[in-house]
Amino acid sequence: MRLSFVGIWFLCFSLTYASCSNTSAFPELSEADLSELQEGLQQGQFTSVDLVKAYLARIQEVNTALHAVAETNPDALTIAQTLDEERKAAGSYALLGSKVPHDSTVVAKLRAAGAIILGKANLSQWANARSSNTTNGWSAYGGQCSAVYYPNQDPSGSSSGSAVISSIGLAFATLGTDTIGSVLSPSDVNNVVGIRPTVGLTSRHLVIPFSLRQDSVGPLARTVKDAAAMLSVIAGPDPADNYTTVNPHPDLDYTKFDEDYNTTLKNGRIGIPANILEVFTASWFDTTNTSGPVMDAFYAAVNLLEQHGATVNHNANYSRLDEYITGYLDGSISNVVLADVAYDIPEYLNLLQPQATPLPQTLEDIRNFTQHYPLEDYPDRDTADFDMELAAPSASSAEIWAQYQLNLQLGGAGGIVGALDNNNLDVLIVPTQASPYVTCIAGLPAISVPLGFYPSSQPVLESSRGLIGTAPGIPFGISFIGRAWSEQTLLKYAYAFEQLTQVRKSGKPYMLPSTELGDIVG
Ligand SMILES: *[C@@H]1O[C@H](CO)[C@@H](O)[C@H](O)[C@H]1NC(C)=O
Ligand SMILES: *[C@@H]1O[C@H](CO)[C@@H](O)[C@H](O)[C@H]1NC(C)=O
Ligand SMILES: *[C@@H]1O[C@H](CO)[C@@H](O)[C@H](O)[C@H]1NC(C)=O
Ligand SMILES: *[C@@H]1O[C@H](CO)[C@@H](O)[C@H](O)[C@H]1NC(C)=O
Ligand SMILES: *[C@@H]1O[C@H](CO)[C@@H](O)[C@H](O)[C@H]1NC(C)=O
Ligand SMILES: *[C@@H]1O[C@H](CO)[C@@H](O)[C@H](O)[C@H]1NC(C)=O
Ligand SMILES: *[C@@H]1O[C@H](CO)[C@@H](O)[C@H](O)[C@H]1NC(C)=O
Repeated sequence: MRLSFVGIWFLCFSLTYASCSNTSAFPELSEADLSELQEGLQQGQFTSVDLVKAYLARIQEVNTALHAVAETNPDALTIAQTLDEERKAAGSYALLGSKVPHDSTVVAKLRAAGAIILGKANLSQWANARSSNTTNGWSAYGGQCSAVYYPNQDPSGSSSGSAVISSIGLAFATLGTDTIGSVLSPSDVNNVVGIRPTVGLTSRHLVIPFSLRQDSVGPLARTVKDAAAMLSVIAGPDPADNYTTVNPHPDLDYTKFDEDYNTTLKNGRIGIPANILEVFTASWFDTTNTSGPVMDAFYAAVNLLEQHGATVNHNANYSRLDEYITGYLDGSISNVVLADVAYDIPEYLNLLQPQATPLPQTLEDIRNFTQHYPLEDYPDRDTADFDMELAAPSASSAEIWAQYQLNLQLGGAGGIVGALDNNNLDVLIVPTQASPYVTCIAGLPAISVPLGFYPSSQPVLESSRGLIGTAPGIPFGISFIGRAWSEQTLLKYAYAFEQLTQVRKSGKPYMLPSTELGDIVG
């Protein structure tokens, strides 16, 4: 499965600056949540400068091994007062040194809310839109990022570093972009909560695009509450991204989900799309035979939800799944995003500031650059995906428009929305590994929450180029999927599940930085 897109900034929240310090009971940074950090800052236990120093020290401890962080922000220590310029790269040397005219809208909103941008995550280059022969978390500029639940673990992608950073507290939380699962999938294997919002809930202005019809910027955090707090900050209309102007729900405070998770579950109406799970577990699809432990954990979770009073419909099937699978296998489904890359990337490049050495202008230019610049590792890593994108019909052609309309139907009335409406349900659940299918083509939202870990009996399997894809202790998640703009509902269920199970806490990273606030303060 190809996973797409660019994860970007990671951050730490700061609110107040205080003079006295109180060194007892610092929150542990690999688990600290927003409320603990805010409380510590407000009480003067530590300052935001301490927090930045601690995160930078933690990054330094592990980054040589993990390559999770591509660049730290040189201004991080003084940024609390100033909104200095931010440099951007795309994991490719093609855009190294390029300058955006101003912050992306999501970053501007985070800064305005008091967040400090610590740096940039290492990602899968061009959101995995370049090569058929590359790896998750690899970029020419950033090197190979790996995850922490098994040595040399495949971090998944494409928001690879974003997930690793949040997972072990190299920052408070991170952002990523999801086109076909690029937030959901790294959240899955890194034991974090990831939100893929409805396309149009968060602005993509000045975020390097893959497909504006499917791209969605969302948070990766350690708890549902923290992810919801981040979403509340970054959501909302932006004249520079017209998809954000059609949200029918003006209430963008996503932190108001019900605290009483028992009541949520007692009134819960949850569906399982059994027919997609039949595909997910079929031997022709699950070629590595790794779905077994995931399904065991999934059905144990379903049992638990039922025991807590939730009504679970086990046959909330997608009515047009057969057509989806046909289009998935013959590639017609993905023609929309393939066509969009060649159109949307030049549109983004147009927004960059002019500079002495001209930047590439088109995807052809980027392909040519990639094939000639030695550090881009060509031809060992090819440009087959660029080739496919450049060969796709034009993004504005009638053919792509028709396919886009079909995709919206297959994901909507013939998929998720139909399953919810026909069965009077609030939310669908599937293992996160099965969640990008159907969901992303219709721009629908999903939230991944930790569900379990591969058992000690799990055979160790390489994914590619020496990275380990499946092994004992590697995490996996469950996803809550819903109608467009239903994030409030999804969060309520995700929170209830998280509170009930507390799965994340059983994760055992083989590598953790040791610097804590107590080492910095005083
Ligand atoms: C120090 O912080 C702890 C935990 O936040 C708090 O319980 C305690 O009262 C604080 N002590 C002082 C002297 O402020
Ligand atoms: C946004 O603008 C593009 C280009 O003008 C158009 O194709 C698209 O339909 C618009 N989308 C919305 C949601 O208005
Ligand atoms: C939910 O119910 C369980 C008992 O099933 C109880 O232990 C827990 O405290 C309840 N949680 C809340 C938030 O009321
Ligand atoms: C849903 O799909 C499952 C698996 O394909 C199938 O066994 C079941 O009969 C279907 N149920 C309905 C109501 O269509
Ligand atoms: C697939 O994995 C399961 C464990 O999850 C194992 O019991 C089964 O034998 C495996 N099947 C094959 C064909 O290897
Ligand atoms: C491709 O890149 C090479 C090396 O940078 C350059 O010499 C050549 O002119 C480029 N070709 C095209 C068609 O842009
Ligand atoms: C990908 O690259 C590796 C390393 O060079 C090579 O062993 C492998 O055969 C290549 N695979 C494809 C599909 O080109």
